[in-house]
Parts: sequence; structure tokens; C-alpha cells
Amino acid sequence: MTMAAPAAGMRRSAGDGLRGWPLSIVVIGASGDLAQRKIYPALFALYCQGLIPEPFHVFGYARTEFELGAFREHVARRLTCRYTPASCCGKHIQDFLSRCHYVRGGYDGPDGFLDLYQEMKIFEREPAANRLYYLALPPAVYLDVMRGLGAAGLVSCGAKAGWSRVVVEKPFGRDRASSDRLVRDVGQVFQEDEVYRIDHYLGKEAVQNLMVLRFGNRLFEPLWNREHVSHVLLTWKEAIGVEGRGGYFDENGIVRDVMQNHLLQILALAAMEPPARADANAVRDEKVRLLRAVAPVTPAEAAFGQYGAGEMNGRRQRGYLEEEKVAPHSRTPTSAAVALRVRNDRWEGVPFFLFAGKALDKNVNELRIRFRETPFGLVERPSGWLGNELIIRIQPDEAIELRMLNKAPGLRMTVQPTTLDLKYRAAFKEVIPDAYERLLLDVIAGDRSLFIRADELAAAWDVFTPLLQAWDEGGGQPEVYSFGTPIPDFARRLANRHGIPLE
Ligand code: BG6
Repeated sequence: MTMAAPAAGMRRSAGDGLRGWPLSIVVIGASGDLAQRKIYPALFALYCQGLIPEPFHVFGYARTEFELGAFREHVARRLTCRYTPASCCGKHIQDFLSRCHYVRGGYDGPDGFLDLYQEMKIFEREPAANRLYYLALPPAVYLDVMRGLGAAGLVSCGAKAGWSRVVVEKPFGRDRASSDRLVRDVGQVFQEDEVYRIDHYLGKEAVQNLMVLRFGNRLFEPLWNREHVSHVLLTWKEAIGVEGRGGYFDENGIVRDVMQNHLLQILALAAMEPPARADANAVRDEKVRLLRAVAPVTPAEAAFGQYGAGEMNGRRQRGYLEEEKVAPHSRTPTSAAVALRVRNDRWEGVPFFLFAGKALDKNVNELRIRFRETPFGLVERPSGWLGNELIIRIQPDEAIELRMLNKAPGLRMTVQPTTLDLKYRAAFKEVIPDAYERLLLDVIAGDRSLFIRADELAAAWDVFTPLLQAWDEGGGQPEVYSFGTPIPDFARRLANRHGIPLE
């Protein structure tokens, strides 16, 4: 089945009939954390599997001064050989590094981009080339960078010149209006079909499986509605604080950081109607339709918290206000709970409860579909029983669990909650790819299914913009919770008001 992401073996036409032309992968913001942690390792993993069309080169571009050797060391630091035997690991790394080049330059003038152009030309050696630009940068500099690329002649146009594609990372704006502006700015240089807005959660294995689970099985779809589902709970927790990203986080907060994008995307895939076809646009059309049916969250349906100091792993962990680059009296929420309402026939009256937070007790991201109780209590329900529940664990340890009542074996009629449990690591022998591997491969192949379309982005901002504006303009304070708390009180109170038990 192809659906949102075609199976790996089915989709690898290097795209557009340009197979064989040189491919230049340009990472702008090459010295940063995202590039080092995610982009180079993902490119290397693709390289090890022979999935990057040859010939290709990787060009790093940033303001940092780097000798070529130092840049290659910077790239190498996070490379691991998950797809190659340990015996050839060193050789693969050296081969990959020999294709990595570096150009130092600024973001706001033409000179650096002209240098980049000269460097790329040395390796492209053809009249045409395919070019992938990854903007691992804050959006504030997008427009300058794109203009710089355009002015240096780095954005190809016309079928004979090869393709140019640009990958942009969130945050795509701060609200609906600034996001629209950013879309227009990017559109000055790149056509919409050349823009790949990445939400790396869409590249996660268990998120992709949502489509297969829902629409490939007869079992769930008849139950997937207000008649049978009592509520949906989407939880995202991290057991770390902002870890050196205080400046970025303080500007954005948890709603802009994970809810408006990652969690809303998961919700859209979980709640949308079946797409008419298994192609990229049909799936995204349904996601947009669903997002437009989500009522904008009101302040009464939301609650915010901020982590204070706490104890974890036997050590004192500092509170948010002690983090570097966080404003001394910051009101930025590091945790939030919202109860969303999807206003359509399928979901009217079913709360979708989203809870996200940093500095909590553990790392987990899971979706729980909780079903209504059986109408007549013929079978006695054990205490604490919450009804049937389908749990889709996105991370860590991808799994699907189905909670159900069962008779415990024995002469007495004892009813016991039990779990049908599918753990990916036990059930499949395949390596689970990192989300960035899949997404970069899709960019190279020209497959936009897993990238956010402009109308989808607008619909997602519409859900949260009124709430964010009310919070930014109002004087409310987030409720402080201790570092390492499992579920802060503010979230529990909001959940109780909606009749949702949080475990
Ligand atoms: C990013 C957020 O988008 O996702 C981070 O900006 C968060 O705050 C990260 O830590 C989590 O990604 P993952 O893949 O580790 O769950």
C-alpha cells in the first residue's frame, strides 16, 4: 500500500527523469546542533544503504570559521554505522566525509552564496544539477538566505536545469499571520512544490503506521467514532529540560514547539476521514479537512505549567528560570494541556486531550484511544478498569497495545485487565529508521506526502492562534511543577473537568 509514505522499495525513482545528474545537498546552518545531530547522520545512513543517487556531494554552509578537516570532524562526530557491518564502518565514514565540503559565509549578503556557487560548480561538473537546500536555521533568516541563493543563481529553474528543493524546519511563524507571511516570503524564491516543510514526527515509524492500522484493518474503523470512543488522549513527555536551547524555547514555548505541529499532525492522522486515494494530496486534503474541523482552543480549555527545580537521578535539576538565555521572569509554558473538540459527525462530543511537557518523569509519546464501556454490566469490571483502550506508542519502544478484560485462568470467575501487546522490536527484525532518514529520502525522490502543505499549516495555526494570543497578551502565570513530576496538577485538573483519567 502506498498511502502517505510508499513502501521504501516502491518509491525510489530518483525523480523527474534526472537520475544521473549530480546531486548537491547543501546544509545551511551547517555548524549547528540540528545538522550535527540529525541531518549528517541521516544522510550517512542513506549513503550506507546506497539510497542517495550518485554522484552526490554535501556542502555545509555557515558563518562559523572551519577548516575543511575540522568541518569533516564535526560531521563525523555523530555518525554511526547502523546499516553496515562494523568491519567496513571506518571506510564508509571516510568515503562519506570525502564528499563533504564547507563554505563559510553570512546569511544576509550575496558574497558567501557566490562562494558557495563556485564551490558547488567544482563538484557538479555538469550543465545541470539537482540541488537540495536544507535550512537548519531560525526562520528569521530564511528570507535573506533564500534571496541570497536566488541571487547567486543557485535556484535552478526550468526542466533542463535540474530541480531545486528547499527543506525548512519549524517554527513556521508564531501564529497564523506570521506563518502566512513566511509562506509568502519563501514563495518569492521557491515555488510551493519546491518547498518541503518538515515535521519530523511524520517520519516516525509508528506515526506512519496510523494509516495502515486504521485503513488496512477492518477491525478498528467501525469503532473509530463518537458511538464507541469516549475520549482520545495524546501524551508527549520529555524527561529533560530545555538543554541549551533556552533562547529558542523561551521565544516559543511548548505549544509552538510540539503541540501546534507534532501533536496536531498525529491527531490529524488519527482522526481524519479515509482519503479517497492513496496519494500525497488526497491524504493531505483529509488532514486539512480535519484540522479545519478542530474548534480553536479557548483559554478555558487549556492550562499551562512551567518546571521548577526538582530531584532526578539523584541530582538536583535546575528549574526553567535558572536555564541559560531564559528571561528572568519568563511566563513561557514548558508544559501544557488542552482539550480539543473536533466538530464533525464522527467526533462531536469526544474530547481529544493533548498533554505535553518538558522536565517530566520520563520520555514518552503515545496515543490512547479509549472506548466506551459496554452498555450492560454483565461482566463485573475490576476496580481501576478504564474500559478498552488501544495504545499506540510512538516512542520510545514503538508498540501497539490493546487493553481488554479477560477471565483469569482458574476455577473461579475472576475478571482481569490484560493486554495484547505488539512490540516492534520483538515483532520485526528490520532496523527502525530515524525519521530524518525517511524524510530526506523523500525530498530526494520528490515525494511531498510527509511534508506540510501551506493550507495545512494555516489550519494548524488557526487551532492555536487565539489561545496563544490570549496567553501572550494576558497576565496569567504558568503553574510551577517540580522537575521530574509525572503529571502536573494543572493537567490533572483540566483532564478531570473533561472526565478524562490520566495515569
Ligand atoms: C523538536 C522540539 O521538534 O522535537 C524539541 O523542538 C523536542 O523540543 C524534539 O525535544 C523531540 O524530538 P524527538 O524526535 O526526540 O521526539
